Parts: sequence; structure tokens; C-alpha cells
Amino acid sequence: MLNWDNPLGDGKTENPATGRRADHRSAGEPIEAPAGRPEGEGKDGPSQPAPEPEAQPAPAATPQPATAPSAAPVTPGEGDATGLGAIEVGAARPTVEDKRMINARADVNQLLPLKYHWAWEKYLAGCNNHWMPTEVAMQADIALWKDPNGLTDDERFMIMRNLGFFATSESLVANNIVLGIYRHLTNPECRQYLLRQAFEEAVHTHTFQYIVDSLGLSEGEVFNMYREVPSITDKAAWALEHTRNLETGQHDTSTTEGAQDFLRDLVAFYVVFEGMWFYTGFAQILSMGRRNKMTGIAEQYQYIMRDESIHLNFGIDVINQIKIENPELWSEAFQKECVAMLVEACELEVAYARDTMPNGILGLNADMCEQYMHFITNRRLQQLGLPEQWPGTENPFPWMSEVVDLNKEKNFFETRVTEYQTGGALSWD
Ligand SMILES: [Fe+2]
Ligand SMILES: [Fe+2]
Repeated sequence: MLNWDNPLGDGKTENPATGRRADHRSAGEPIEAPAGRPEGEGKDGPSQPAPEPEAQPAPAATPQPATAPSAAPVTPGEGDATGLGAIEVGAARPTVEDKRMINARADVNQLLPLKYHWAWEKYLAGCNNHWMPTEVAMQADIALWKDPNGLTDDERFMIMRNLGFFATSESLVANNIVLGIYRHLTNPECRQYLLRQAFEEAVHTHTFQYIVDSLGLSEGEVFNMYREVPSITDKAAWALEHTRNLETGQHDTSTTEGAQDFLRDLVAFYVVFEGMWFYTGFAQILSMGRRNKMTGIAEQYQYIMRDESIHLNFGIDVINQIKIENPELWSEAFQKECVAMLVEACELEVAYARDTMPNGILGLNADMCEQYMHFITNRRLQQLGLPEQWPGTENPFPWMSEVVDLNKEKNFFETRVTEYQTGGALSWD
């Protein structure tokens, strides 16, 4: 069983039907070797954020084998990756064995038969988590923000930089999905999830528009921070550098080099951007929420974090499945490069924490965020089957697991889903 579904690594996933979390670890499971799910598996529930303080080794799953190709006379890499080519009238019907993560031979317009059930489950989980930022009341936040004594200068500074980082990061991620990843991930069920994820990123960008509008913030200041505040620029520039080959179009995943470029993009955006860099920001705002400050934004961040944990886990599953199907890509040199990427990204995040909290705020400071980022980076390395760089680091924010567990906090989503289903009578008058 995989346990990379849990962003903070307690080896537990939640059954969306029962709300119960199950521990998938067993004593005999090996520590190394990330792997995908065996065919027909992947029904152990979608990714749910239910973190606990201690990271556990990623147990290996039985690989989903790279099955033998069918007799379809298509050379890998020469298939129709867009699905917009001429219709092959009378061609053999595609089978599960034809489906691949990259360089697919199978018709990308045919969702069924499903091969990667984990991708489909994540699509369903994303749909079940639907929310809109405008459903969250902002009156308390507005009153506090406008009260000259409501927040300290350090708190205001941190909040502004936090919003500045997220406001454009959501668009960067969305653009990378649509313009970088989608074309190369030649599997319909994964594409189905990408389409859902792209919409969720739009909802997240909408959240920052809504916050700026509600609090009466300077939109120019917030949305230009990624070009004007060095610690934010450094992160955005780092991520874009690792996707440059996709952007220039010099990219052919049928070659080892091209496929590694694609993997590098996936690591930079799914593992680093969404899986590491968002977490300092989540901790900052959620720590304010715990002190009953800016509770509307904190609630929105809870929902964003829930979405992001599924994005992260989808990305990890995609990377590990590509590794299984194309083992030559995961060379020793490439593994070292990935470790170096995560270490460098961790340093950038620590610099961001210091920049946004030069004096710290009540209950939170940059040193604690540095430890947290070491803990998170260890966890991401482990999920990729790479060695931890700060072994034994403990989670300094065990309360994050409580905050993230929305079912414990309130039954918001169940209420929402019920309302949507009831409203499904669709009053379109
Ligand atoms: Fe997002
Ligand atoms: Fe995301």
C-alpha cells in the first residue's frame, strides 16, 4: 500500500465514505523503493490531509507494471498525444495495456477502460471537496484589519507577504498544468484530474481576489510582489527555471532527456511548489486562525490546503508511476539532482520565512519554520524514495494536523455537499 497520500506522513488515509482513517503501514513493509499501485488497486481512498507530527518511511507498493504494448502499429512517442489528430477509423480498440503515463499509444480521447484508479479517485475526491471562497464570511477579518489596534505591525507585514506569495503562485501552477504538463501526460484519467485541478487553482486565485477586495488591500501591491519582493521572486524564478524546456517547446518525452525534463517539471511544481512552499504560508495563516485572528482567511486556507494535499499526492503518484514505467529515467545522477533541487528549494523557503517574519509573531518564528521545512522536505524526499537530508527532525507544529482535519473542526464539506446535492434539483429559472 502506498502512504504518500498523506502529506505529512503518518501513514494513514481517510476513507471518504466513512470519514475513518486507516493505518496502511505494517511492520514488514520495506522502507525504500517508491512504487505505484498494482492494477485494480487504488481504492483505498483519495488523498486526505490528516497529518501527524512524525514522518514515517514510505512503504513500497507493488508496482503497476509497464505492461507489454499491444500490437497497435504506433511507435512510442509518435502517438497522438493531443487527441486532436485524424480519427483512426476502424483501428483496434484500446486496452488497459495500451495506456501509459507518457508517450501513450492509446487513444487519449477514451477515458475507459480505467488503468490508473488512483487518478480517478483523486478526481472524485476533488469534486467532493468543491467550495467557493465567497461562501466564507469575511466580516470579522475586515473589522480586525481595519481596527488600528487589531493586529501588530509584524502580523500585518506577514499577512501581506503571505497573500503576495499565494496570489500569483496559484496562477503559476495553473499555467504550468495547462501549458506544460497537460500535453505530455498522455493518460485520460490523469488528464481528467488535471482539468479538475486547473479549476481548483482558479478557485484559489479567486480566493486572493476576494481577500484583496474584502479587506480593501492594494491589488497592485499584492499581485506584484512576485516581481518586487526578492524572497518571493527567487522562488517563482527557481520554479520557472526548472520548467524552461517545456516553455520553449524543445521537449520530446520519447527521449530520455526530454522525459527527464518533464519529470523535473513535475518535481519542481508538484513536490516543491505545492508540496513544500505552500506549507510555511499555511502554517502562518493557520497559526493566526488558532489565535482567533483573520479567521475567514484561515478557513479559506484550510480548504486550499485540503485541495493542495491532493494535488501534491497526485503529483507524487504520477512521478512514481512514470519511474516504474520508465526506470531508465530515474538514474543515480537524476536522483541526486532531485535531492539537490529539494535542498535548494528548502533553503529558499527558509529565506522566505525569515523575510516574512523578521521578528516573529506570537507562537511562530522563522527558526520554527525552518525546522518545519526540514521536516516537510524529509517527508517529500521519502515519498519520492530519496534519502532524508535532516533525519530525525520532528514536526514543530503538531497542531497543523488538527487544523487540517476539517472533519474534526467542523462538518463544513459534508454540509456543503449535501446542499449541492439537494440543490441538484437545479432551479434554473
Ligand atoms: Fe492552489
Ligand atoms: Fe495546487
